[in-house]
Amino acid sequence: MRPTVKSPPGRTLPARRPSRSSRPTRTTRTGRGGGQPRQREEQIACPHFSSVTPSDWACEGRPETLDRRFAEPELDGAPARPYVMTGMAMKGRVCLVTGGTSGVGRSIAAGCARAGAAVVIVSSDQTRGDEAARVMRELTGNPQIEALQADLSVMDSVRSLADAFKKRYGELHVLSLNAATLTLDRRVTPDGFESIFATNYLSHFALTNLLLDTLRRSASSRVIAVSGLPGSLIRVRLDMADLMLKNGFSPLKATARAALAKVLFILELARRTEGTGVSANTFHPGLVRSGLPRSLPWFLRLPARIAMSFFAAESDTGVFLATSPEVAGMTGRFFVGRKPAAFRAAYDVADAASRLWEASARLVG
Ligand SMILES: NC(=O)c1ccc[n+]([C@@H]2O[C@H](COP(=O)([O-])OP(=O)(O)OC[C@H]3O[C@@H](n4cnc5c(N)ncnc54)[C@H](OP(=O)(O)O)[C@@H]3O)[C@@H](O)[C@H]2O)c1
Repeated sequence: MRPTVKSPPGRTLPARRPSRSSRPTRTTRTGRGGGQPRQREEQIACPHFSSVTPSDWACEGRPETLDRRFAEPELDGAPARPYVMTGMAMKGRVCLVTGGTSGVGRSIAAGCARAGAAVVIVSSDQTRGDEAARVMRELTGNPQIEALQADLSVMDSVRSLADAFKKRYGELHVLSLNAATLTLDRRVTPDGFESIFATNYLSHFALTNLLLDTLRRSASSRVIAVSGLPGSLIRVRLDMADLMLKNGFSPLKATARAALAKVLFILELARRTEGTGVSANTFHPGLVRSGLPRSLPWFLRLPARIAMSFFAAESDTGVFLATSPEVAGMTGRFFVGRKPAAFRAAYDVADAASRLWEASARLVG
């Protein structure tokens, strides 16, 4: 059953113009040929919380769009709305979100901020991170959003990020791992790692381990990692002898392997943290508008951007996993569309997860 969330009494709402969808009446066009719109006084059915009314800012949390990257679908005729946890349900909680400037990570960071959490987003560029944090503060009305800089393809930078975070925050309740890069050719990082493997997976393995003591101390706490569809990932082969894809590199292969590595890492993390109050889950984010086409050549970038304009602005499952009390205590699961899905491969998944953990620990030292 979904939780019922109401704004606490006396809560100060952010000052902003009401969005179209938050007006107390909703205009619905009825009858053939459009005709005159008919005013319909009603309690708009919030897809997430049955008792939320149109005046609840968070359910109707669709502020005026300040930035196209944050454009959200109109309420009328919109497809399923993304999960929204609100009512300051996460007040006092701290979330660290890699990839928080764009796509899936941005959506999760905003979801946590709407729920009242303090949010730290990670960007490879401080100016871009600060700008994303500023826009997110305005959109969510939550002042507790800041950006930390780290180049996640470089392990020293990952270590500095963990140190900087620990200096500023004593607790960590949600660690959301989304940062990802896409390169068309094989690139090698200063540490000698293949760039997609290092950024999308290895950095997250290292960061999580560096922050595990903080996560344990803050329990109950969550680690969530974006991956892909389980049906596709079970067919991917992770060659332990060639993790850096020295042989037969392709961007798709590298991306799929890094996504599979993340899944195996999460499964092993869940096993290792069982009973500690730290949960670890992975998920398919759905089709979410994203910045990934930016690294494609223009003739691929254009069609990719057009296709993406039909994707959702938010990752429903990502926000759900980061914020919902419904998943408290659930660990080691692969979520698709808010529900745990099976991940059964032809090989021994637990054994592969354990071997990958050992190999990764050796790589990052
Ligand atoms: N979007 C989808 O529909 C979809 C579907 C299935 C799976 N996924 C998976 O979700 C993950 C995220 O994809 P996305 O669509 O959200 O991509 P995106 O919009 O391009 O976001 C990537 C994020 O990673 C950050 N990043 C990239 N390189 C970095 C580095 N070296 N150091 C620090 N941060 C770095 C970027 O931040 P800065 O540029 O600010 O550094 C950006 O915030 C990918 O693994 C993708 O395969 C996405």
